[in-house]
Amino acid sequence: MSEHLTVVTHPLVQHKLTIMRDKDTSTASFRQLLREISQLLAYEVTREMEVTTRRIETPLCEMDAPVLAGRKMVLVSILRAGNGLLDGILELIPSARVGFVGLYRDEETLQPVQYYCKLPPDLGDRLVIAVDPMLATGNSSAAAVDLLKEAGARNIRFLCLLAAPEGVARMKAAHPDVPIVTAALDERLNEKGYIVPGLGDAGDRMFGTR
Ligand code: URA
Repeated sequence: MSEHLTVVTHPLVQHKLTIMRDKDTSTASFRQLLREISQLLAYEVTREMEVTTRRIETPLCEMDAPVLAGRKMVLVSILRAGNGLLDGILELIPSARVGFVGLYRDEETLQPVQYYCKLPPDLGDRLVIAVDPMLATGNSSAAAVDLLKEAGARNIRFLCLLAAPEGVARMKAAHPDVPIVTAALDERLNEKGYIVPGLGDAGDRMFGTR
């Protein structure tokens, strides 16, 4: 991918996102829409995956037909909200390997601290897609990508539902080699670090924890 930031402006994505932003949308609908939108975003983030051909026989003749090349890709969910994107993408790419990264924010230093990390082997040979619905300050996203690089990943992409300009700038400074795919680039962060206009707390909205 040549662009650092790709905003998927497809009307289906934008329509679904609008319903998700609406504060009156139920938890069940939010979860279902996130599942659907994750598949449309995954379509974009995997657009340049390598393909090779395989000789097959259709009922009419033989042909060299395209198939995905290389090692299975890795999806890395940044806990906990990343799981909402992960579930939908796994329906589309069921053979993907899956990793999890858990980070919390130290209230004194305000820096992300890792509490969980479980990643598949051989990351260096695979396309690795980190998923987190909200790219807000970018601190935890940049830290998660640090972890992936320390574990050997070299071909990384970041998939989110909404991005704030601050988060995109932070990622570009820390990881200019990691393309970002999102459904929208919103206006700004508020004083509490929420994306505005945004959709609120993605984890709370998908899991009904508020
Ligand atoms: N995380 C969220 O869930 N929402 C925001 O607006 C920012 C970070």
